Order: sequence, then C-alpha cells, then structure tokens
Amino acid sequence: MRFYFSAKKFCHFKVFIERHMSKNKDIACAFNVSESIKGEKLIYPAATRNSEPILQVLKRFIICDIDKIEDVSPIFLEIASGSGQHLFHFAPYFPGVKFQPSEIDENLFGSITYYAQTCPTKNMLPPLLLDIRNKLNCYGIDDNSIDYMYSANMMHISPYECTVGLFENAGQYLKTDALMITYGPYSKDGVITPQSNIDFNAALKAREPSWGIRDINDLIKLGEENSLSLIDTVEMPANNKTLIWKKN
Ligand SMILES: C[S@@+](CC[C@H](N)C(=O)[O-])C[C@H]1O[C@@H](n2cnc3c(N)ncnc32)[C@H](O)[C@@H]1O
Repeated sequence: MRFYFSAKKFCHFKVFIERHMSKNKDIACAFNVSESIKGEKLIYPAATRNSEPILQVLKRFIICDIDKIEDVSPIFLEIASGSGQHLFHFAPYFPGVKFQPSEIDENLFGSITYYAQTCPTKNMLPPLLLDIRNKLNCYGIDDNSIDYMYSANMMHISPYECTVGLFENAGQYLKTDALMITYGPYSKDGVITPQSNIDFNAALKAREPSWGIRDINDLIKLGEENSLSLIDTVEMPANNKTLIWKKN
C-alpha cells in the first residue's frame, strides 16, 4: 500500500490548508504550486518564519565550538527536508558539523540541492532519497553512527508509520547520548490546544485520515521502546513545540 502523496497532490493540499487556516498558524504549507512542481528553489513561508526560532533552540543543544569537535565532523541527519531551507539556515552556525538533508519526494531535490550548493559554509551535503519507514542501513548508514537527527513538521503530515520509523531509526542509528530534535504541533494528554491546532488537526484528518497531530504521551512510549528519553520540551511561536530526545 502506498501511503505517500505525490508532490502535486501534496501541493494542492498545502494550498487548501493555507486557505482554511488562520494566517498566523505556523504550518509548513504555504508555497507556490508551480514552483514545487518545477523542483527549483522553494521558499516555504512557514520555514522562513520558524527557521530562526528553531536555530535558537539548536544553539542550546548542538556543540557550536569547532575547537571542541573531535577529528571527525558530527553528522546532523534531517528527515523530511522539504524545501531544504532549514539546514541552509542552520549550517553556517555550526561549521564543524555536516548537515545531511533527506527526503522521500524527489521533486524537492532541485530545491534542496540549490540550498546545499549555495550554503556559504559548504557543510550542507546533497540530499539523500530516504523513506523513514525503512531501516537507515538501506541507505548505507551504520548502527550507532549519527550524532544528531532532526525532523520538522513530518509526524503530523504523514501516516503514523513514519513516526514509528523515525523513533525506531533514531533508537538504532543514533550514537549513545546523541540527540533527536523534533519540531511541530503536538497534543498532550490527548488534548490539542489552542483552537487553531484543533482546526488544523481536523483539516489534516479530513484530507487524509492517517495524518494528524501526535500526542506527546504516545511519543514518550515510543521513545521508551526505542531507548529515547524526552529531555526537554521547548514552547515555540505559533503553538508549536521543539522536543529534545536523548538516546540512552
Ligand atoms: C510539511 S513537510 C515539512 C518539510 C520541512 N521539514 C519543513 O518543516 O518545512 C513534510 C515532509 O515530509 C515528507 N515525508 C512524508 N512522508 C515521508 C517519509 N515516509 N519519509 C521521509 N519523508 C517523508 C514529505 O515529502 C514532506 O516534504
């Protein structure tokens, strides 16, 4: 069964969401349809808005000082890179870290590659074609080899199998004590707040029943099954959160 939506359908969904949601909701959704189909540099308005707040959180958790980095550069693997804007924004602030974007949608590779090639510090790698439901060794990644994993706005806009795949892969492929950072809207104790997130969740489910805002309690259980502990929850603009997970 193929869960994934084509880029074209996904773009139409993004336009649908943009029209139906309040203007200040931070959803990675609003961009020009023709741009995405051409696969050129994309600018997602939500990514433009949230890149800097997320960077401020990353600065608290990622080793920035190049002198403190050992001989081999730490690897920061992004799952579901979308346009590629996030890593383009982050990479210059961590010149000793290698940023590896990845995506299931090859139509986004033109945009991600554009950002990788124009990254001033040259530490953003070309994108990997990667479906997070597969084991990362399918892509040549070794167990216990990744220093940071990062995924923004994927869990709620994909079937739950993708969330399970994200946690299973983080548990297996992150080094001990390494971090996974996830960003997006989340519910807590089964309660979604505020109303804009309730409406967003309803719109997601109306579009595709297997999509929807994930509950932090379910994620904590998934973390426990995969040797990952939630060590911090950071409130972000537009009713999103950044969750910091540590591999035990
Ligand atoms: C809402 S976009 C988020 C893009 C970007 N992270 C951001 O925040 O702007 C969700 C992304 O998840 C990707 N995606 C969906 N299913 C996936 C899977 N099974 N494996 C990897 N990526 C997937 C989609 O192709 C899409 O680019």
